[in-house]
Formats: sequence, structure tokens, C-alpha cells
Amino acid sequence: MSKPTFRWGILSTAQIARKNWQGIRLAGGGVVTAVASRDLKRCQKFIAECQKEAPFAKVPVAYGSYEELLADKNIDAVYIPLPTGLRKAWVLRAAAAGKHVLCEKPCAINTTDLKEMIAACRKNKVQFMDGVMFMHSGRLKKMRAVLDDDKTVGPVKRITTAFHFNSNQDFYQNNIRTHHQLEPMGTLGDQGWYCIRLALWAMKWQLPERVTGRMLASTIRPKGTPPVPTEFSGELFFRGGVTCAFYCSFVTELGQWARISGSVGQLSFNDYVLPLRGKQTSFTTGSQDYRFIGCDASMVPSEKRWTVREHSHSARDSQETNMIRNFTKQAQSGQLNPEWPEIALKTQQVMDACWKSAKADGRMTRVKA
Ligand SMILES: NC(=O)c1ccc[n+]([C@@H]2O[C@H](COP(=O)([O-])OP(=O)(O)OC[C@H]3O[C@@H](n4cnc5c(N)ncnc54)[C@H](OP(=O)(O)O)[C@@H]3O)[C@@H](O)[C@H]2O)c1
Repeated sequence: MSKPTFRWGILSTAQIARKNWQGIRLAGGGVVTAVASRDLKRCQKFIAECQKEAPFAKVPVAYGSYEELLADKNIDAVYIPLPTGLRKAWVLRAAAAGKHVLCEKPCAINTTDLKEMIAACRKNKVQFMDGVMFMHSGRLKKMRAVLDDDKTVGPVKRITTAFHFNSNQDFYQNNIRTHHQLEPMGTLGDQGWYCIRLALWAMKWQLPERVTGRMLASTIRPKGTPPVPTEFSGELFFRGGVTCAFYCSFVTELGQWARISGSVGQLSFNDYVLPLRGKQTSFTTGSQDYRFIGCDASMVPSEKRWTVREHSHSARDSQETNMIRNFTKQAQSGQLNPEWPEIALKTQQVMDACWKSAKADGRMTRVKA
């Protein structure tokens, strides 16, 4: 028997919700049933614009408040891309209303809040997952196989990663990411979350024992509130001597790269959050040999490009569509996947420790499990 249509509600008219609207349409088996906004007109406009590009047979209902959407019995799951500072209350309410929760990242303003959010989902038997799309790419699966083959990269020793983009005055004045009450961890929450997630993935979810964090630049909005980081660097120290350095910022031109170095070789990619446009994704592995031929010393590169047949975005097999499909399948299975909340929590725990360190001027800080 075929599964019933999975019915999504979207809380807010966030920019990123447009991409996931399309993901829901492309994933198959699901529909956007309703969208809610603080402003009914904005909601209607958002729905009309999304319908134009990626139409559902039945036009989703527009609600002028988030409460109304949560009271709608025809909704199985909610996607919550509200600002982080406001998200917890709505996750708790969504869970209490029996809706599965796809929660944007960073999930919460601290670990204590995230634990409460996850516990509420567990108690109400609804799935919790964060919205990190790259976790659902075919490329990551292939990278795992290569890292595990023991001969291409060898045991992982060092991870370096960065995610940053440059922003303008309008961003500083109006974007949620520079507002203390909306996104208190600024670039650390928005971009550092991905860097930390990638490092944890590479380390097979082992938590670092200690971390350091440094706020390299910050902004204050509204006046009189604590600084929001706009440029941040962190270092993670794992058991066994493996380390990771990450950098995130709103002040340097777009970059989203990672390099995983082992005792045998390196694995790198330069588009890990938003894959470069195309019909395939890729990463490279390789090493450089230093050779003497007589008195002539030279470097001999050996690089291999690995490709994965999947579209970068907006396709049935792209990462955001896979994310929606995986979430739907899990929610419809009637079983809760405990790993998804667990990896969100670990990411939050590491982020919290980096943030705590930065507030103590870069002091070495233990990660609390
Ligand atoms: N996973 C990913 O790939 C990804 C990508 C981008 C962003 N994100 C995350 O998703 C979240 C949203 O990012 P975004 O760029 O899409 O944000 P955005 O366009 O600014 O949307 C945020 C939405 O929150 C609602 N909202 C409720 N109270 C608000 C308030 N006091 N001030 C401002 N907005 C308020 C607004 O919707 P209504 O007015 O309609 O209620 C607004 O449209 C962020 O936490 C970000 O880190 C994730």
C-alpha cells in the first residue's frame, strides 16, 4: 500500500524556506499544506511566489500566525526556519502539537535549550532533525568510503575548514544574523555550525575534549546588547592528538572549503555547504612527493578527483531534496531516529564550548557532553 501524502507546514516566510519548499516538491510523496507568517499578506505573497516556481496541485493555506498553523490537524511536520533566538518556544509548541520538527541551524542558543527541545520531541514521539543539507549528499557517503579505506588519506590527523561570505551595510543593519536577540552567535551559529559539523562527521562523532574560540570581529545591535561575532576562529582538540581549525566570518569573500589531512594523504573540497552548480559533485584526494633526482629536488603531485552523479541543487537527487526525503521516510516509518538529534546536540555542545572560550578571551575550554 502506498504511503499517505506527507503534509508539511512552514513557520515563517524565511528566505531559506523557498529552497526547502522546492525540496518538498521534488522529494515526492509530500506537499506544503500551509505556511504561517506574522503577517498574513506577506504569507500570501510568499505562497504565490513559491507556487509560481514550484507549484503544488492544492495551493497551501496561508496563516497570519504561527499558532494557527500548529493547530491545523492536517499537518504532519513543521519546518522551522525562525531566527535562533525565537526557535525554542516554537519547537516546544510544535512537538506538543504532535508535529515532527525539521529545525534550522544553529538549533538553539545553548545546549540546555536544545536538550529541552529534543526531550520534548522524544516525549511527544515526533522526529527532530536539523536542516544541515550537506549531511544528505551522496558526496559525503563517497568521502566516508574513501576516508575509511585507510590508504588514500590514512588515519585523520588534522582538519581545517572555513565558511565565510562578505556582507554589506544593509546586512549589518537589517539581517537577523547581526542581531543579538535573533542570532546571538552571529557567524559562529550561522557558519561555524557547518564547520563544527564537518569536523565531527570526519571524526565519526567523537567529541573534542577541549576547544578554544576567538571572536576576531563583532558588531552590536541593538545598542547596549552584547557583541555578536562577525568573524570567529576556533580550534578543536580531540583525543589522540587530532586537531581541527575552523574559521567563519561575514567579512571575507565567499569561501566554503575543508581539508582533511591524514598520515598518507589529504582530502579536500571547496564547495561543501552549497555545491558548485552542476550535474555532479566532487572532491579531491592526493599527496605531494618530494623527490631528489641527483641535485634536483622537485615536488611531484598526485591528485585524484572523485565525482558523484548528483545535482548540486534544485533536483530530485540534490542534497536538500534528499534531506526532505530522508526526514519524511523516517517520520512515516513510525520509528524515531535517535542519531539526528544526537548529532545536532554534539554540534551545539562544541559550539557552546567555543563560544564560552571566546568570551574568556580564548581560554582552553572543556567540552561538556
Ligand atoms: N540550512 C541551511 O542551508 C540554511 C540556509 C540559510 C539559513 N539557514 C538558517 O535559517 C534561519 C533563517 O535564515 P534566513 O536567512 O532564511 O532568515 P530570514 O529570511 O530573515 O527569515 C527569518 C524569518 O523569521 C520570521 N521572524 C519571526 N520573528 C522575527 C523577527 N523578530 N525578526 C525577523 N524575522 C522574524 C520572519 O518570517 P515572518 O515575518 O513571515 O513571520 C522571517 O521571514 C537562520 O537561523 C539561518 O541560520 C539555514
